[in-house]
Parts: sequence; structure tokens; C-alpha cells
Amino acid sequence: MSRTFLLLVAAAAVAQAVDKRQAFNQSIPPTTTLNGSVIENPTAFATPFVLNVEDLWDLLVGPVSSASITTTISATTVPSSSLIPPPPLYYSPFPSGQQYPMEPKNESWSFPKDFWWGVAGAAYQIEGAAKSEGRGPSVWDVFTHRVTDFVVNNYTADISNNNYYMYKEDIARIAAMGVKAYSLTLSWSRIMPFGRGPVNQEAIAHYNDVINTCIEYDIIPIVTLFHWDLPLVLQDTYGGWLSEQIVADFVAYAKVAFAAYGDRVTYWFTVNEAIVFCNEYPYPAGYFKNFTIPNQQQPFHCGQSVLLAHSQAYRLGKEMMPNATIAYKNNGGYKIPLTNSTGDAVAVQRAWDFNEGWFSDPIYLTGDYNENVKAYVSTFLRPFTEGEKQTILGSADLYAHDAYTAQFYFAPDVGVAACVNNASNSLFPTCANTSYTYSAQDGGWAIGAYSDPLASWLHKTTDWLPAFLHYLADTWAGGRPIAVSEFGFAEPFEAQKTVLQDILYDPIRTSYYHDYMRAMLIAMSEGVNVVGCLAWSLYDNFEWSSGFAVKFGMQYVNFSDPALPRYYKASFFEYKNVFDIYQEK
Ligand SMILES: *[C@@H]1O[C@H](CO)[C@@H](O)[C@H](O)[C@H]1NC(C)=O
Ligand SMILES: *[C@@H]1O[C@H](CO)[C@@H](O)[C@H](O)[C@H]1NC(C)=O
Ligand SMILES: *[C@@H]1O[C@H](CO)[C@@H](O)[C@H](O)[C@H]1NC(C)=O
Ligand SMILES: *[C@@H]1O[C@H](CO)[C@@H](O)[C@H](O)[C@H]1NC(C)=O
Ligand SMILES: *[C@@H]1O[C@H](CO)[C@@H](O)[C@H](O)[C@H]1NC(C)=O
Ligand SMILES: *[C@@H]1O[C@H](CO)[C@@H](O)[C@H](O)[C@H]1NC(C)=O
Ligand SMILES: *[C@@H]1O[C@H](CO)[C@@H](O)[C@H](O)[C@H]1NC(C)=O
Ligand SMILES: *[C@@H]1O[C@H](CO)[C@@H](O)[C@H](O)[C@H]1NC(C)=O
Ligand SMILES: *[C@@H]1O[C@H](CO)[C@@H](O)[C@H](O)[C@H]1NC(C)=O
Ligand SMILES: *[C@@H]1O[C@H](CO)[C@@H](O)[C@H](O)[C@H]1NC(C)=O
Repeated sequence: MSRTFLLLVAAAAVAQAVDKRQAFNQSIPPTTTLNGSVIENPTAFATPFVLNVEDLWDLLVGPVSSASITTTISATTVPSSSLIPPPPLYYSPFPSGQQYPMEPKNESWSFPKDFWWGVAGAAYQIEGAAKSEGRGPSVWDVFTHRVTDFVVNNYTADISNNNYYMYKEDIARIAAMGVKAYSLTLSWSRIMPFGRGPVNQEAIAHYNDVINTCIEYDIIPIVTLFHWDLPLVLQDTYGGWLSEQIVADFVAYAKVAFAAYGDRVTYWFTVNEAIVFCNEYPYPAGYFKNFTIPNQQQPFHCGQSVLLAHSQAYRLGKEMMPNATIAYKNNGGYKIPLTNSTGDAVAVQRAWDFNEGWFSDPIYLTGDYNENVKAYVSTFLRPFTEGEKQTILGSADLYAHDAYTAQFYFAPDVGVAACVNNASNSLFPTCANTSYTYSAQDGGWAIGAYSDPLASWLHKTTDWLPAFLHYLADTWAGGRPIAVSEFGFAEPFEAQKTVLQDILYDPIRTSYYHDYMRAMLIAMSEGVNVVGCLAWSLYDNFEWSSGFAVKFGMQYVNFSDPALPRYYKASFFEYKNVFDIYQEK
């Protein structure tokens, strides 16, 4: 197909031979190329002109790097020598299975036969192949290439794991560990390089092959449509998620994906962690068009678009694939009051309301925002129509939560009420302060083992997981099954290790998976209906603004070696082991 896009500029003037750079400057201002300057009066071209994908890269991103491997390679056989598990580690908190021979199997615990356990990755973080086969740029290409100091060490994901060409190897390696499910995400700007309009058939064919490779290895493909890599053109044209214009574009993209893969993919997530990507707004000044929505309100404009886009895509998906399981992915830690004070109890509730509840209350409970969110957003967002509320309510078949950790919440210094009435308070509008340490009366200890300093939000708080899963089931799931759609741990300072065997022996991550899975078994034995879990991540990858400086992988990838070799870490064996012991055969 021709990877071109007719950019129609509805204005008077004339121009036959249009200089693309000039034309782009005037029609979709501004980007960093334009050095942040807004053209006040975009005039000018009655004649449609052709802007191709290459132009987008040239104008908005600049040169990108490419990998040494630039064609799809076949899987190699995983040697049995790399499947020998590590020696046992010692743990105390939970009774354990056969890797810990002194402690018996707990016969009250089991995972059902059809429990889908697996691993997760995301397009921008692992694929590389930035410009290959017609991919258009996303906002993350600007974050990595243009925005000063956005990413540690100026890392980019141009090559990353080169999963775009090495997916067969990647799938073979997870299959060799026995995983049952692989959670992958589609790159919207590969499939639609401009975010809307023409569909790139090479991208469609690529993901077809990824999905077919999963099926060939008896792995369930779980597909997420949007994991933060917004097509750049949509951001520069109308502000991306800030504008309700994105709703129709997202639904059109979802339709393309459902039509292409719905015959083989039954598990779908629409958007990943809306709390996180909506709070990414406002985007850094000077690199994207500023749509003049006050900064503090921007996340909520984004949230409104997400609720509309998700719910409409859900309804379309259920029409096209009646048997599919479709949801969106929530995220956030378990929220614990720091003390028994009333103020801290109120702060905890506000923290739930402005995080999980922002999306989950409309989708699972009422079709509309909870009272605390509504009190704020009703001052600047239009209300949902009755029809929209009905579309939103019930638009998820399971409750999917990226449930990594837990943290304490407490009232702001001035109290909750004073904060709610003062938009200048740094905690406004949530008005809940947060901490990773117990209160002074309780000794001031850390809530749990620290992960890497570049993942300061993440601690090993697996003891809280049973209470967390009960809370999700009781508050939102409403009888629907629960999936832990991401969880995982950043081994402290792992990026600074240089000896291969040292890197592969990851004791804190291993204990995280050990204890996390047993905590999940406890919750399940108490009746919480968990149907699947997906570990983040199948291997080290581009961790957003931390680049390659923080590691979440259960496999090590040597990014200094052009062949990008992969190696299993000890934690992967621990994760696999719990299913060897506890999953019904
Ligand atoms: C964009 O327009 C501004 C103002 O007219 C001009 O100064 C700048 O050079 C243009 N940039 C490009 C890349 O054409
Ligand atoms: C804009 O351009 C000027 C002059 O080249 C430069 O000093 C400034 O740093 C640029 N600003 C941004 C945001 O790139
Ligand atoms: C990242 O790039 C900026 C702009 O080119 C440069 O000033 C800075 O020194 C770089 N940082 C590192 C850590 O290389
Ligand atoms: C965008 O414009 C608004 C309103 O003029 C201003 O308050 C805000 O600081 C700007 N944001 C950015 C990121 O430039
Ligand atoms: C949906 O599942 C039902 C029950 O398993 C089956 O009879 C039906 O054919 C399926 N429909 C589609 C469209 O796959
Ligand atoms: C808070 O309440 C719990 C349960 O009632 C109690 O166990 C705990 O000791 C109390 N903590 C403080 C600091 O008062
Ligand atoms: C949040 O808590 C920290 C630590 O107690 C405190 O220093 C800070 O002032 C609090 N922030 C607000 C806005 O209350
Ligand atoms: C609102 O909060 C800001 C920032 O903490 C503070 O400077 C200001 O005095 C507060 N205003 C009122 C009316 O309390
Ligand atoms: C990674 O690859 C580089 C280049 O081949 C090599 O020098 C280095 O020893 C490797 N590191 C590890 C930990 O294997
Ligand atoms: C086995 O699991 C049950 C249910 O979670 C729990 O109550 C019991 O304490 C566990 N047994 C041992 C020996 O830990």
C-alpha cells in the first residue's frame, strides 16, 4: 500500500508545488521542529498535498537507529542446558513447594487447570524497528528523540529488544518455560501510521504472524490496543487524548484490529493504565502543540476521552466477537491509611476515588464519575449523556488490575477540607498524601523491601495482596473474574551489574514472585475468583523514562551485544515452579 496521507487544509489560498516542511509547519503546528512557536493563523493551502510517513519522521523526529538484525529470524531451539533451574533460595514468610524441600505443599491451594499464567511486554518497549515496514511516529519517539532530559541517559527504544524481528525466538523461549499466555500490545502507529486513515498492511501481516506463532506454541495471545504510544499526528492535530476527537479514531483503529485478529484472539484489553498516561498530560512545553487547557485539568479531559473510547470499542468488540473477553487495564497499589485518624481514612478514600475509581466507578458501578471526582470535573467537563453512561456502565468482562505494590495514604498538612478548597495545594485535587514508610508510632519502617531507586513507587508488599484482591472483588468486580494483568519487581541496582551469573541470580525479584503467588493462592482459597496473571516482564526492556537503567525482566537481554542475546533469570524459574506445584493438570 502507499503509506501516504492526504492532508487537507481547509483554507483559502493556493499553492501547487508545496514545500512539505512549510506546509506541515502551518497546518499542524508546532512541534520541537518548530521550536515551540505557534503559527497564529494557519493559512494556506487549498490544494491537498501529500505527506508520507517518511516526512513525519523527517519533520518531527529525525534520524533513528536500526538494529543489526532487520529481517524476521526463525526461532532457535532452546538448549536444555539453559533450562536447568537455579539452586534453592531460603524464604520464611509463606510455606513453599518443592523447590523448598523442608516445607510441604499446602493442599488447600490450587490454580485451576484453565488459569492463564503468563508474561507481558508492550510494543514501544520491546519492538524496536522504529521506522520499519511503514511505522509512523508516536509521541514516545518525540519524548525519546527530542525532549531534553525526558529519558535517563537519552536512551531511545529505536532498537530495544528488536522483538519486531525476533518475536519467534521470544515466543519459543517463553514456551520452553511452559507459560500459557503472552500479553502483547499493538502499535497503533504501525497499523495506522497517521493514527487515522490508511491502514498499513505490513503491520497487519506482522501481528498476524506474532499471533499465529503464539498459537503454534499453544500460548494464548492476549492483545492490548493501546499502551501509551499515541500516534504523533493525533497529538499534533487535536491534542490526542485531550480531545474527544480521538474517540472515533480509537474506535476505528479497534475495528481494524478486531477484524484482523478477532478470529484467533479472545482476550482483549482496550487501554493500558489510563491513570498513568492521562497523568502524563500536560506534555512537555515546546515540543507539542499546547491546546490551552489548564494543566491541572488536562488529565481529566484525557480520562473523559478514555471512558468514551474504551466503552465504544468494547461495545463494537462484543458485536464483532460475541465470545471475546474484553476489558481495560487498571493500575495502582493497595491503599492503606497511615494512621487510624479520620483524616487519613478520608484521604485513602479520595486516593481510591481519583485513581482506580476515576475509571472503575463509571465502568463497573454507575456509568458516571464518583462524587469526589465529579465535584471537581463538573466545573470544566461536559456531563456524560444518558446514552454515554449506558455505554460506559458494564463495559468490561473482567476486572484487570496491574497490582504491583501497596502504599500508605494520609491527609495533607492543612487537612483534606482545606486542600479540596485550594487548587494551589500541591496535592489538589486528590488531596491525599502518600508514604512508603510506616508512621513514626509504628517505627517508621519501610512498607516492604525497596526495589530499584528508579522505581521508587515499587516495594515488595506481597503480604497485602490478599486484602488487595478482596478489595477489588468487593468494590468493583461485582461477580466478574479478576486478572492480575501485570505485576513484577525491579531488582535493586541490577543495571549496574556486569557479571552474567550475578545478573541472572535475582534474589529479591525471586522472593517477590514466590511470595506474591502464595499470597494469590491464599486469596483464591478464600474465594476470590482470580482467573489469570501476567508477569511484567518477559525480559528487560525500555522502561519509559528510565530507559534501560531499571530492569523488570525475568530474562536478561544484553543490549550491548548486537545479537541481543536473552538469558533466563532465577526468578523465571521460581514463577514457573509455583504452577508446576499448584496448577491442576
Ligand atoms: C515554521 O514557521 C515559522 C514561522 O513562520 C518559521 O520561523 C520556521 O522557520 C518554520 N519552520 C519550518 C521547519 O519551516
Ligand atoms: C529554540 O531555538 C533557540 C535558538 O535556536 C534555542 O536557543 C532554544 O533552546 C530553542 N528552544 C527549544 C525549546 O528547543
Ligand atoms: C542528552 O542529550 C542532551 C541534548 O543533546 C545533552 O545535553 C545531554 O548531555 C545528554 N545527556 C546524557 C546523559 O547523555
Ligand atoms: C498551556 O497553556 C496554558 C494556558 O495558556 C498554560 O497555563 C500552560 O502552562 C501551558 N502548558 C504548557 C505545557 O505549555
Ligand atoms: C460462542 O460460544 C458458544 C458457546 O461455546 C458457541 O456455541 C458459539 O458458536 C460461539 N460463537 C462464536 C461467534 O464463536
Ligand atoms: C489502629 O487500629 C487497629 C485496628 O483497630 C489497631 O490494631 C492498631 O493498633 C491501631 N493503630 C494505632 C496506631 O492506633
Ligand atoms: C506530604 O507529606 C510530607 C511528609 O510528611 C510533607 O513534608 C508535605 O508537606 C506533605 N504535603 C502536603 C501538600 O501536605
Ligand atoms: C493555598 O495553597 C497555597 C500553596 O500551599 C498557599 O500558598 C496558599 O496560602 C493557600 N491558600 C489558602 C487560601 O489557604
Ligand atoms: C554483553 O555483551 C558485550 C558485547 O558482546 C560483552 O562484552 C559483555 O561481556 C556482555 N555482558 C554480559 C553480562 O554478558
Ligand atoms: C494452607 O493454606 C490455608 C489457606 O490459605 C491456610 O489457612 C493455612 O495456614 C496454610 N497452611 C500452612 C501450613 O501454612
